[in-house]
Amino acid sequence: MPAVLHSSVARNAGLTYPQDMDMKRAQRLSIAPMMDCTDRHFRTLVRLISRHALLYTEMVTANALVRGRDPERFIAYAPVEHPVALQLGGSDPALMAEAAAKGAAAGYDEINLNIGCPSDRVSAGRFGACLMSEPRLVADMVRTINDRLGGKIPVTVKTRIGIDHQDSVAFLDDFVGTVSAAGCDTFIIHARKAWLSGLSPKENREIPPLVYERAYKLKRDFPQFTVAINGGIKTVAEAAQHLTHVDGVMIGRAAYEAPYAVLATADGALFDDPHAVPSEIEVAQRYLDYAEAEVAKGTRLHAVTRHATGLFTGRPGARTWRRTLANVCRAPDAATALKDLRTLVTGNINDLSLSLREDLAA
Ligand SMILES: Cc1cc2nc3c(=O)[nH]c(=O)nc-3n(C[C@H](O)[C@H](O)[C@H](O)COP(=O)(O)O)c2cc1C
Repeated sequence: MPAVLHSSVARNAGLTYPQDMDMKRAQRLSIAPMMDCTDRHFRTLVRLISRHALLYTEMVTANALVRGRDPERFIAYAPVEHPVALQLGGSDPALMAEAAAKGAAAGYDEINLNIGCPSDRVSAGRFGACLMSEPRLVADMVRTINDRLGGKIPVTVKTRIGIDHQDSVAFLDDFVGTVSAAGCDTFIIHARKAWLSGLSPKENREIPPLVYERAYKLKRDFPQFTVAINGGIKTVAEAAQHLTHVDGVMIGRAAYEAPYAVLATADGALFDDPHAVPSEIEVAQRYLDYAEAEVAKGTRLHAVTRHATGLFTGRPGARTWRRTLANVCRAPDAATALKDLRTLVTGNINDLSLSLREDLAA
């Protein structure tokens, strides 16, 4: 069963997504899957800022979902998170289909296959970016999952523009052509290639150059497919520019580091939904309500609050907020820590001059 979000939090935020969700439209802006970052708590924080951005889980291995001791830990999400996609890692079509079926039964809106992660551990398990050189196997996974799910929710692929020396236009076009024939029409392209040996995953997100034109060309070559672009995109204005070439934009690190600064204008600018976006302070208050409800269910407070470090990035008070969050673990108990955070949000952080003075003095 999905985790249930504290109902008053959901109500206050006006956070129900329409039933007839249009996943193609949702692709216009998505938040990238990021291990250790995009868990259900961070996704809930993002949802307090944007009603529309499509949220991706961290990658979950099919093995952990099907054979692991605690699959619930990986699959739990709150209804408020819709539209939300489950990212799977694996290479055994039957096991992937089993895992995808669990995701579909839990109510995820999309199953996404990770064909882009270059870590050694992932390659040793024969999944991630190394599978770019095995398009038939990827197609087999897509087909088996589609058969198992009866086509009820989309199966999408997140990949790179190439691996190692296999980075020609023909290589990516062949990959996409083969995989799409199995029933995948949405490709999220991290617009740089990956070196499978020699670079760490972090270096593989920074060193190979970004070639946005390659993702644009993919869309031109396959206009019938939904193509989303990813890599180094930092603002809604940049996203809007990319959307003149492709169907969707995926933002990762920038959204994690400064969720409000990056995403506050997204619904109006990218989804034509000019609703009043809550202020950072309102978002913080609602997120603390959520944190309190989670703590009552047994979640460690820090597991929730650690994702809010960047909430005030770029505005006075950011440093005070970060420092108070860093102290959460040192507080005698969660109730005291929450009280400190609430006092800050309703008191000091509102007092811009005080926060600014503190920031400048620090
Ligand atoms: C900490 C971290 C963890 C990541 N974990 C995943 C993952 O689980 N699955 C995946 O497909 N990509 C993962 N990525 C890659 C991101 O999804 C994204 O492709 C990459 O960060 C480039 O986008 P950006 O420049 O907007 O951050 C991760 C990236 C980071 C920084």
